[in-house]
Order: sequence, then structure tokens, then C-alpha cells
Amino acid sequence: MGFSLYLLTLYLLSQCTAQWCYRSQYSCDDTCRDPSHWAAQFPSCGGLRQSPINIVTSKVHINSALPPFTFTGHTHSINITVENKGHSAHFVLPQSVQLTGGALPGQYRAKQFHFHWGGNGRPGSEHTIDGERYPMELHIVHIKEPYGSLAEAEHDMAGIALLAFLFEETIDDHPHLDAVIAALGRVQNNGSSTVIPNFRLSDIIPASKDLHSYYRYVGSMTTPGCEQAVAWTVFHKTLSISSRQLDAIVKQCRFWTGQPMTDIFRPTQPLDGRVVYCSKAATSLTSVTHLWLGVFPLVLETMSLIH
Ligand SMILES: *[C@@H]1O[C@H](CO)[C@@H](O)[C@H](O)[C@H]1NC(C)=O
Ligand SMILES: *[C@@H]1O[C@H](CO)[C@@H](O)[C@H](O)[C@H]1NC(C)=O
Ligand SMILES: [Zn+2]
Repeated sequence: MGFSLYLLTLYLLSQCTAQWCYRSQYSCDDTCRDPSHWAAQFPSCGGLRQSPINIVTSKVHINSALPPFTFTGHTHSINITVENKGHSAHFVLPQSVQLTGGALPGQYRAKQFHFHWGGNGRPGSEHTIDGERYPMELHIVHIKEPYGSLAEAEHDMAGIALLAFLFEETIDDHPHLDAVIAALGRVQNNGSSTVIPNFRLSDIIPASKDLHSYYRYVGSMTTPGCEQAVAWTVFHKTLSISSRQLDAIVKQCRFWTGQPMTDIFRPTQPLDGRVVYCSKAATSLTSVTHLWLGVFPLVLETMSLIH
């Protein structure tokens, strides 16, 4: 009995060792790789263009070459599969959902979206603005055509386009999040999946005409392998979520280790000399003058990195 328990423990430890985890997965603390140890197994995680970051608004560079986006398929009613991936839940999007514009070099097809959250009243966004962490963050992952997967896209510096929306807590419920919350309740354990019928992305995010204002920088995926191939867009416009909805979201799912899936965000990473740009629509007149004091060559330089 004692021996088989010992073997079981060894087995569980070996399962953990092979996996990466968030800091919140305490019982695996010494065995699975928490964010500070991801790079040991996934070298890109230790690179110089990592995400998420803290955006310091007084240091962003205004860029008039960041136009609005064009969304395709966002208003279509679709059936989407939701799957508990062990570290978060993915909402799989069909290839008919697409993205162009926003100074991105090409056409991008949506792959999936997912959320990062905290727990028990703790905020859980990945990006922070002037040091402030928001309650939750939505990421919509897009892959540049003609690539079909992250692996194919990862060698292109803008092979992946990630749209990020920060949530703000409001008194009123977000009118369309309850279908998402109910679906999370059906995928509580690693590997389980469900379908949300008749889902419309436009129910969750605003129309593109309301999304002229955003931050842009070059970075990485925020989970291993931390592929440094992401053109990041963090929108100024926040999405709303009530405390009731937030509570329901953070309480339902479990990690692959069985613990409650809470605090699923990577700590912010160093900028390492990168510049965060801000679309012109997002700025006041005083900060626009800033542009003519010498940052423009830098803007062009980094824009050519994106292209
Ligand atoms: C969604 O699923 C329903 C029922 O399974 C089906 O009748 C409908 O055609 C599907 N819609 C789309 C857009 O595939
Ligand atoms: C979690 O689920 C995935 C996919 O279903 C599976 O491959 C993986 O082995 C599971 N992890 C554990 C630790 O059970
Ligand atoms: Zn994410």
C-alpha cells in the first residue's frame, strides 16, 4: 500500500515535470515549471521580445500610421467549440473570421480566443496599464495567411496578430457573456469540450468603428513556447463585466492538475528597448506635438520591422 502510494506520487511528479504551469498551481510548486522557469524548457520564453508588458502611457509614441481594422465574419452566427486546454479554455473560431488593416502586413485568420483572469477578487489581466492590472483580458489569436498553425507562423515577426481587450468591472452584466460563462461551466476539467451554438463575436467585442484607439508593440505569445512572432494590439476601449459574472468565470474551471483554474496570467516582461506605439486617434492634441520632437524616425524603423 505504502509502496504503491510512493509509485503514484512519483508518477504524478513526473507528470508535473513535463508541464509548464502558472504560479497559482501551488501543490506543483517545486515540480512543474512556473513562469520564472519556462525558459529552461522553452528558450523563446527568455527572449528579448516577450509579452505581456506594462504599458507606461507617458512613454508611448504616437503613430499616425496605425489605421483602424477591418473585421470579416465577426457578425456571422457560428457554432464554436470550447475546450479546457488544462491551462485555460480555448474558444475555437472558424477561418471565416478574419482581420485586415491596423497596419498589419496582410490578411489574418482567427484561430481562437481565450481569457486571462484572476480569482477571488484578484485582477487577472496580462497587460497592465501604468501598473494597473484589470480584472480580465480577452485575447483573440489570428494567424497570417497563408500559414496554418502557430508553428508555421512563428518564424515571421508578424506571423501572429493578437487582439487584446481589457475588462472593467461594472454594475451591470455584460449582456452577452452569460453564454461564455455557461460554456465554461461545461468544460470544468482538462480535455473536456462543449459547443456554443449561434455565437457572434460581435456580441462580445465592439464594432471596428469604435476601435480606432489602440496600443501596438511587437512581442510574443504569453504561454510556452512564447513564440516571438506577435504583432500585439491592446485596445483602449474596455469591455464590461459585472462582479457576478467575474465571480462565475473564475470559479468553474480546473487546471490539468485538478486545482481551481485561477490567476491565469503571466507576469509582465521587460520591454528590453522596445517601443509601444499608440494610434493617433487615441491621443490628445498635446501629445500629438510629441511626434514632431524626433520620435518619427524611430516609428518608421519599427514599423518596417512589422512589415
Ligand atoms: C449549428 O448547429 C446547429 C445544430 O447542431 C445546426 O442546425 C446549424 O446549421 C449550425 N450552424 C452553423 C452555422 O454551422
Ligand atoms: C489534458 O488534456 C489533454 C487533451 O485532452 C491531454 O493530451 C493531456 O494529457 C491532459 N493532461 C493531463 C495531465 O491529464
Ligand atoms: Zn492569452
